[in-house]
Amino acid sequence: MTIAQQTAPADPLLIFDDVVVSFAAGTGMISRLRGLSTQFNAVDHVTLNVARGEILGVVGESGSGKTTICKAALGLHPIARGAVSLEGAPLDLSSGAMQMVFQDPLSSLNPRQTVAKALSIPLRLHGHAGKKDIDAAIDALLVDVGLGSQFRNRFPHELSGGQLQRAAIARALATQPRVLFADEAVSKLDVSVRAQILNLLKRLRDKHDLTIIFVTHDLHVARFLCDRIAIMYFGKLLEVGPTRDVYADPNHPYTQELLGTLDKERKTEVSTRDIFNPLTDDTRACRYLGRCPHALDICAKQHPSQRQTGPAHRTACYLFPEDEP
Ligand SMILES: Nc1ncnc2c1ncn2[C@@H]1O[C@H](COP(=O)(O)OP(=O)(O)OP(=O)(O)O)[C@@H](O)[C@H]1O
Ligand SMILES: [Mg+2]
Repeated sequence: MTIAQQTAPADPLLIFDDVVVSFAAGTGMISRLRGLSTQFNAVDHVTLNVARGEILGVVGESGSGKTTICKAALGLHPIARGAVSLEGAPLDLSSGAMQMVFQDPLSSLNPRQTVAKALSIPLRLHGHAGKKDIDAAIDALLVDVGLGSQFRNRFPHELSGGQLQRAAIARALATQPRVLFADEAVSKLDVSVRAQILNLLKRLRDKHDLTIIFVTHDLHVARFLCDRIAIMYFGKLLEVGPTRDVYADPNHPYTQELLGTLDKERKTEVSTRDIFNPLTDDTRACRYLGRCPHALDICAKQHPSQRQTGPAHRTACYLFPEDEP
């Protein structure tokens, strides 16, 4: 599929164009003797446009490639095929234009650094110089994330989970990124703190015209926060569309399974079936084939292309007609 066929945003900021990320796997003697593949695509030909200022939810079960696709955009995993571009240009990873916030802020902050120290490092890299300038920038960041300057001299172990995540977000904002990747950034927080951090992300998006890629397992969180939802399964993008459309009318059987809208009989049938194994199953087939209650002969032969299934909704499934050429 070409970029022009993508649904999507008229004004894309970030473009994933046919991105493949491969990892070595099963490189042992037994795998070789059995003739099993030694490479698998954790992200497999994903094309996705992300609009300026949108919050895109990336949803899928464990191992579907959500973290891998974010890390590939940040240059933390090599891209085997395809490309990621920001504002039409190849990525300049030194610019700090994209940042990531992780699930566990305690492990992403240095335990021996105060909050002020942790913020001063990216601020210096981003051109701030002189104590006065850096101090002012630290205070502004702390206010921005709802902490305030009284947190400057605290160490990570002196912060609550919510405060830690705010400090991690402040550090990510220090380079004035255009895109923020938030990988399960609220999943370790309790419910009331989670809501506060989600509201903070919304507020920061509005204030800084930030684009947020929000990775989550939690469909309730995604529904609350995200403008659009991308559903991934074993490295494939199966469905993408506006949140209200995906929730009101989930097209892909996998999305229906996730949202619990597959009818009961089919759901039981699906849950007892085999999940895809990238090392032993035919990687040309639809990766949801083993679990799909609607599988057709063609699904075993070739993974379906993305099809237009609504004005801004696309689904990779043979149950829908192919796009007109
Ligand atoms: N550095 C790596 N080397 C080899 N395989 C990897 C590496 N990183 C991830 N993988 C594999 O790639 C696949 C996708 O992993 P990824 O971490 O992107 O999944 P995820 O969707 O983020 O899952 P989770 O919801 O559990 O965080 C998995 O099979 C994983 O084991
Ligand atoms: Mg992950």
